[in-house]
Amino acid sequence: SLVILDFGSQYTRLIARRFRELGAYSVILPGNAPLERIQQENPVGLVLSGGPSSVYDPGAPRPADGVLDLDVPVLGICYGMQYLAMAAGGTVERAGKREYGKAELAEYHGDLFDGVAGEFVAWMSHSDSVTRLPSGYEVVATTSDTPVTAIENRAARRYGVQFHPEVVHTPKGGALLSNFLDSCAAARDWTAAHIVDELVAQVQEQVGEGRVLLGISGGVDSSTLALLLARAVGERLTAVFIDHGLLRLGEREQVEHALRPLGVNLVTVDASEVFLSALAGVGDPEEKRKIIGREFIRAFEREARIHGPFDFLAQGTLYPDVIESAGGEGAANIKSHHNVGGLPADLQFKLVEPFRTLFKDEVREIALLLGLPEEIRTRHPFPGPGLAIRILGDITREKIDILQRVDDIFISALREFGLYDQAWQALAVLTPIQSVGVMGDERTYRHLVALRAVTSVDGMTAEWARLPYEFLDTVSLRIVNHVHEVSRVVYDITGKPPATIEWE
Ligand code: XMP
Repeated sequence: SLVILDFGSQYTRLIARRFRELGAYSVILPGNAPLERIQQENPVGLVLSGGPSSVYDPGAPRPADGVLDLDVPVLGICYGMQYLAMAAGGTVERAGKREYGKAELAEYHGDLFDGVAGEFVAWMSHSDSVTRLPSGYEVVATTSDTPVTAIENRAARRYGVQFHPEVVHTPKGGALLSNFLDSCAAARDWTAAHIVDELVAQVQEQVGEGRVLLGISGGVDSSTLALLLARAVGERLTAVFIDHGLLRLGEREQVEHALRPLGVNLVTVDASEVFLSALAGVGDPEEKRKIIGREFIRAFEREARIHGPFDFLAQGTLYPDVIESAGGEGAANIKSHHNVGGLPADLQFKLVEPFRTLFKDEVREIALLLGLPEEIRTRHPFPGPGLAIRILGDITREKIDILQRVDDIFISALREFGLYDQAWQALAVLTPIQSVGVMGDERTYRHLVALRAVTSVDGMTAEWARLPYEFLDTVSLRIVNHVHEVSRVVYDITGKPPATIEWE
């Protein structure tokens, strides 16, 4: 595969995704990964990522000995190009000012730019520049601020670009990455169909005649995993969906209708009685989360015993969770989800994690191929504790019922108005506040509900979604007309930070 050495750029994952979009499988390794580790990947080409350091810094990250001697094409991006130039005997200097933003190439030529024509806008973000070329290299692109914007040593198949071809702000960057793949003669077979075939074969090899247990949350990852596993091991998969009674309206049925016809051996369990009695009278958000977490494990464990024994537990771990990143002291620290969430000792399973090498958007593509219905494939994230953390204060069946109906009106309207995909997440909150209203000639004193919709990339930060007033008006009217327990609707206009997305 194509190996990307990470020197700490915020864009490293993007490089991997771009290559995969171009059909070439790529992996990310720490910048200092040992030569043997890189060789394990059968590298057809190497990419040196950008990074925040200066190549002459005492602790500047560098590839391990021998890595740059591999007889494969090498592409250095930003810091990677500077390192490449320095290592080959060139000079890198701190430029007078930091160049940041869009720049237009004054001229360009060479292998990387093969087939590219017209204006080339490049995204720059650097303070250092290559000022003297190593021998064997030539300059193949310049801008007015940076005379050495791209370099190449055609004979050695070494390439460097000062800008970031992987970001959308470099519109023709894809062509450049594609040309690099050509010079690597990299296979372009990383398509959804190929991924599915490969994963199915891997699962079959790992699992053999064993039986697999999978917990389904109703989200895209676990649903897609269920479809993949069903294809790989058929009836030897048992997928368990625990309904804690805090789901959205009709959610359990939706999952059943989506998965059973596609051959998933799905067990759904109505455990609402247990969860709601454990939650009775509890108003503290963290306490609610703890109780739900605990009951969830108990319920899952119970099902595992009823339907077991199982040899394997499947998990939807994704690539971003397991990418080896270069931690302090050059040690690779690996973030991993390798705990089987507190299951007891006599329920020890081996893990099956077929999505460990995939990005979220690849999972969505597979989901499409495997026939997962659109409403699940494109669904907003939904928290594990469900509506429990959207009912402020203690939880009763009546409150759940009210919130489910409000939420359903809001979410259905978002879909109806074509606004669903514009929000990263949308939700309704039932507050313990009662407020005075008037309906007909009658004074009312009923619930206040809040609607919230946010835009975000990963949920870490968020902005409130600028939903049209007309839309909000329609939703508000529908809610107060159809949900008689509610007399007032407000829209949350707080970002994250300072607020969180959920209210609890
Ligand atoms: P906050 O409210 O922290 O939410 O801004 C960020 C994202 O995380 C989800 N969330 C949870 N997901 N268990 C989950 O599985 C939880 O306890 C939980 N709390 C928040 C939230 O829905 C949002 O997508």
